[in-house]
Amino acid sequence: MGDIMNICADVISRVNSDIRGKNFYTALEIEKRGEKILKLNTGNPATFGFSMPESVKNALFQKIDTAVGYCDVRGMAEARNAIFEYHRSKGFYNFSIDDIFIGNGVSEIANLISTALLNPGDEVLLPSPCYSLWCNEVILRGATPVFYKCDENYGWNPDTEHIKSLITKRTKAIVIINPNNPTGVLYSNDTLLSIAEIARQHRITVLSDEIYDRLVFDGKNHVSFANLATDIPVITMNGLSKSHCLCGFRCGWLVVSGPALVREEISGALLKLASIRLSANAMMQTVIPAALADTEYTKSLIAEDGRLYKQREATFRELDKLDCLSYVKNDASFYVFPKIKPEFLKETNDTVFAEKLLLQKHILLVPGSGFLYEEPDHFRIVMLPEPNVLQKAVIKIGEFINENA
Ligand SMILES: Cc1ncc(COP(=O)(O)O)c(C=O)c1O
Repeated sequence: MGDIMNICADVISRVNSDIRGKNFYTALEIEKRGEKILKLNTGNPATFGFSMPESVKNALFQKIDTAVGYCDVRGMAEARNAIFEYHRSKGFYNFSIDDIFIGNGVSEIANLISTALLNPGDEVLLPSPCYSLWCNEVILRGATPVFYKCDENYGWNPDTEHIKSLITKRTKAIVIINPNNPTGVLYSNDTLLSIAEIARQHRITVLSDEIYDRLVFDGKNHVSFANLATDIPVITMNGLSKSHCLCGFRCGWLVVSGPALVREEISGALLKLASIRLSANAMMQTVIPAALADTEYTKSLIAEDGRLYKQREATFRELDKLDCLSYVKNDASFYVFPKIKPEFLKETNDTVFAEKLLLQKHILLVPGSGFLYEEPDHFRIVMLPEPNVLQKAVIKIGEFINENA
């Protein structure tokens, strides 16, 4: 690297994505030497052989000609109708078609909504651990991320007393990620209701990232936050990257729900911002109705004979054999966030652990610090490879921890 010339904005030095951070580039260098790396850093199903649903492929072929021009800045009408029906089917009604905005993935949606809501100096409550997109967006807006604890001893549910203690006059919004990345858990209704009460009392907007809501195991049921809090402003986010294994399509959306006047203001701001970027990719929008109608595809992944289910079982089976780790079983998504027990971590920390694991065992993982988690002893496993691959990976991780203890 040459000398820093101070050309770029100062804020750039404060944002980071460890998922594609330093270890990721080291892994690419190792691969260039012809050596294999098991990359468990990203939740990108297509790279592990998950293929596009047939329903989506057919819709794409049939509708492609309708996607040649810029479309409505909020998103194609047919796609927004399907999204409208989807969220109504999840039990909340306090929004209209005009409160739905489609973007290039929840990633772009996070950018739009944080730009619409945040002033420099505002504080935003974020979970710890947290998917780093949200922290980065807050920082990029000149606002301040304030982390609330998710408690491993209570199934990684947010600690609502801690949330209360963090509220100040500057608190503008609270982000919840449910089901969560990196812990994979589903929050209890009591927790969600407590957060709703806090938001109500302090007039805080809730941003609910629900991108994993269809990937829930064991017959459990995801409840949308907006369904429990119809009287307050809620932004619900979702997309097709995970449930339909379509990360590359860059398909995400948000729904603004709550009192009419609040919706008018937020959706008005979003309309301006969406207009500035002309339109989201129209091609991916053509498949939204077919994808949301195809519930079988996602169900087939999480059923007891489904790939995601079997991969999760294989991971748990091996994790259960390891004395050096403890973990909370995930209810949803394809992540688990184990803890290395203190007697096995000794002087080192999660960052050093991940670096050495990559160099010595050729497994790329994201350490807890990559999810803004302050205790230096966790890491995330992405359970997307086939069961036998995951099984071997967990065995190797266990060997590595024991060799280095
Ligand atoms: C919690 C969460 N939100 C948002 C995203 C981004 O999704 P998209 O592909 O829609 O940009 C991810 C991706 O991993 C995620 O885990």
